[in-house]
Amino acid sequence: MKKVYLETFGCQMNVSDSERVATVLESENFEMTPDEDSADIVLFNTCSVREKAEHKLYTRIGQIRKLYSKKKIVGVLGCVAQLEGETLFDKNPSIDFVLGTKAVGRASKAIESVLEGRSKFLDVGEREPDYDWSVAETQKHSPYISFVPIIEGCNKFCTYCIVPFSRGREKSLPAPEIIRHVHKLHRQGVKEVHLIGQNVNSYRPKTSEGLEDFRGATAFSKLLRAVAATGIARIKFTTSFPRDFHTDIIEAINENENLCNWVHLPVQSGSNKILRLMRRGHTIENYFERIDKIKTSDRKISLTTDIIIGFPNESEVDFQDSLKMVDYCQFDSCYIFKYSPRIGTPAYQFEDNVSVEEKKQRFIELEERQRLNQHRIFKSYLNKTVQVLVEKKSSQNNFDLSGRTSCHKVVQFKGSAALLGKIVDIEITESKSNTLYGKVLNTFV
Ligand code: 5AD
Ligand code: SF4
Repeated sequence: MKKVYLETFGCQMNVSDSERVATVLESENFEMTPDEDSADIVLFNTCSVREKAEHKLYTRIGQIRKLYSKKKIVGVLGCVAQLEGETLFDKNPSIDFVLGTKAVGRASKAIESVLEGRSKFLDVGEREPDYDWSVAETQKHSPYISFVPIIEGCNKFCTYCIVPFSRGREKSLPAPEIIRHVHKLHRQGVKEVHLIGQNVNSYRPKTSEGLEDFRGATAFSKLLRAVAATGIARIKFTTSFPRDFHTDIIEAINENENLCNWVHLPVQSGSNKILRLMRRGHTIENYFERIDKIKTSDRKISLTTDIIIGFPNESEVDFQDSLKMVDYCQFDSCYIFKYSPRIGTPAYQFEDNVSVEEKKQRFIELEERQRLNQHRIFKSYLNKTVQVLVEKKSSQNNFDLSGRTSCHKVVQFKGSAALLGKIVDIEITESKSNTLYGKVLNTFV
């Protein structure tokens, strides 16, 4: 049996795609292995959102070719494959096949073709109409948490972003299919589902089938209520798009305990000038209005975001606006990125005129500001009780287990492995800026 090693870069959608690639390969008599050394076939599921991620692919292929004299088949999947297509073979002639973002279901066909002697196999075609979204038990990234894609692609075309080109236009999955999927996971004992998509709250299925019985101003909030009605213990969703973030989402969270109290709402900048240049479709005032609604909701909802620093023409004043914005929003966590020009995006035409040094300085300053805010927020959890889904053994010496709260914070604590997969009450005894520490009080499910 041929062995396949699959390495994944990038977002949850890629992790989710990889789970399904592995599922199909295993069902077609390949053996998945976590050990690249023993693998006959090495697959990279790639990310193109920033230059660094793309470079990593070329470095990794170089390493594989250098380390192993035995010829391994190398296949490139995902976003870089979709964008580069045939040119990937010119960039790295040792690549055997290239499979685009929607062709991942045909990985076994690509491998078979190469095994039969065909070189340079390329498929950047559409997804099969009867594409199977299910994931085998053996291939899930966690036994207790499952990703459930609800919308693919993106129509927003923010000027810096390659995603609309690598993942195509928005396509929502039919609600009955999603609900069936969640019911099945619930029956299998999964405790938490993450509804995923580039913009989950832009969810717009072709028909309202499956959502008729649920309230809400938008299809997304109806879907949230429908998924909540399956009775699964926890539901998280990511990523949300600010312009489409309406109060009906907050209402759905307030009314359903199993809709987790966490919203990831990327703001990108605190300056209206930069937001306009980014073509984000929201002003900072619009964003603050949404934040105010989230912060004053009945349930305490935690808020996380993405910010890009050093976008073309970002002046010191614009950057100061981002610092002020971070202070205003009091994010529970924040991913900060240095702007990375991507060929083919509108912003690629703009001069990348914030120097490397300035980007570095701004990154450090923003990170420090966020760290201080976050430290305070995390400290406010001291002596409080939170419910944690126990996900895995802890990698920290003094703690046995690690899990996350409904508000998506990591908590470490002592306890037996029998707690894995359970939801437990934890009293918080210590906090750092990224992690909470505590002791187990009660076990629920
Ligand atoms: N440069 C830097 N960061 C980017 N992101 C998307 N495109 C770029 C880029 N060209 C960031 C955004 C987005 C997150 C997933 O990646 O903040 O929300
Ligand atoms: Fe990229 Fe903007 Fe779409 Fe997000 S909303 S994936 S940043 S184009």
